[in-house]
Amino acid sequence: MNKLWSGRFTVPTDAFVETFTASVEFDQRLYSFDIMGSIAHAQMLAHIGVLTEQELTEIVTGLNDIKQEIEQGKFNWSIALEDVHMNIEARLTEKIGITGKKLHTGRSRNDQVATDIRLYLRHEIDFIQQYLTQLISVLIAVAEREAETIMPGFTHLQSAQPITFGHHLLAWCEMLLRDKSRLQDCRQRVNIMPLGAAALAGTTYPIDRHYTANLLDFTEVAGNSLDAVSDRDFVIEFANFAALVMMHLSRFSEELILWSSAQFHFIELSDAFCTGSSIMPQKKNPDVPELVRGKTGRIYGHLISLLTLMKSQPLAYNKDNQEDKEPLFDTIDNLKACLRAFTDMMPGIKVQRESMYKAAQLGFMTATDLADYLVRKDVTFRDAHEIVGKTVRHCIESNCQLEDLKLEILQTFSAVIEKDVYKILTLEGSVNARCHVGGTAPSQVRIAIKRLREQLEIL
Ligand code: ARG
Repeated sequence: MNKLWSGRFTVPTDAFVETFTASVEFDQRLYSFDIMGSIAHAQMLAHIGVLTEQELTEIVTGLNDIKQEIEQGKFNWSIALEDVHMNIEARLTEKIGITGKKLHTGRSRNDQVATDIRLYLRHEIDFIQQYLTQLISVLIAVAEREAETIMPGFTHLQSAQPITFGHHLLAWCEMLLRDKSRLQDCRQRVNIMPLGAAALAGTTYPIDRHYTANLLDFTEVAGNSLDAVSDRDFVIEFANFAALVMMHLSRFSEELILWSSAQFHFIELSDAFCTGSSIMPQKKNPDVPELVRGKTGRIYGHLISLLTLMKSQPLAYNKDNQEDKEPLFDTIDNLKACLRAFTDMMPGIKVQRESMYKAAQLGFMTATDLADYLVRKDVTFRDAHEIVGKTVRHCIESNCQLEDLKLEILQTFSAVIEKDVYKILTLEGSVNARCHVGGTAPSQVRIAIKRLREQLEIL
């Protein structure tokens, strides 16, 4: 097959090198964006008089036909033609003849590929935004249902203070909402058009870059041609966003896995999201969150690959950049899969409210409430801390909980303690007392839900 760049060569490409340098096996995924960019480029060339209207029509018709061929599986991808760009261009010339050879006027594969990736990534970002919205909405709905559900809150994975399950779920919503806003921010820097930069220095044709940008819905044109063809920091920024989402999902996964164990018994995942063991008949394994936790590793890996790919690269385009695609594609595929898995799984979780409540009754979790009570009765916080510490030690020695202690016993630790102490020692009293912005009280959970729903609307 005759290469589109074979003019200066006398020896054909080594067969292995041909395969080694080709990207068509994976970059064919960009076909629709490549065609979209080519059509806009051709329209601009006609607009400035470089192509006639007749030529433009032939090119646009030819490219649209090629798109159909690809979608119907009739397109013959060729390794010899290296990448998606040259495969499509060669086919265009095969179909429409000499006019096809005019499409690449004032353009290079360098600005072409940079444009394709940006169009593709922008498209995927819009999907991922929707995925995030769906997941956050699902979590808010579960949080609303569980606004009053009491569970133990942990620090150091040790019982700390009682919280509401609704509040716990909303913590995930806050993280994912920040991810969403990071993605929105990233999109602005993705949506900049490299076309017109050509190989690296721009082109001698009187191109109208704003005209092309407008057709492709880019908000800006890249301000420097060297930067336009070589920059991939927008891909890294996206990979960073993805790594953060996965970090969040991995933490979430970890909790779901712990909580569905017999030892915690806080939730049960739907059978539809678990698998069994081939040897242990009793097993029901939380594979979905485990796999999400596991996939976090490869997505971090892609971020590091991309950073390293760009490290020390001299300006402008280098073939190294062809290596940007597979990590990006894999990041997108897996991130979408993980978001979808969580969105589908979360509404079906069964919350074991009684177990959560029982677990919250252990571990002296209202000790801080008792200290705060003493402070309200004019004991300093440090003294109160000491008093409650001793009370807890007494409970440990007599194997009971704080609320089991008789008033006379409590009074041996501090004379200011009165009958009203028992109300603050209850789990309900404890969570209800944390009634301020960001607190765990059910009434605050409802307020937070309203705010999060509003934020979700605007983002
Ligand atoms: N397949 C190439 C890539 O993905 C397209 C750009 C090639 N440009 C070049 N000058 N060889 O980066």
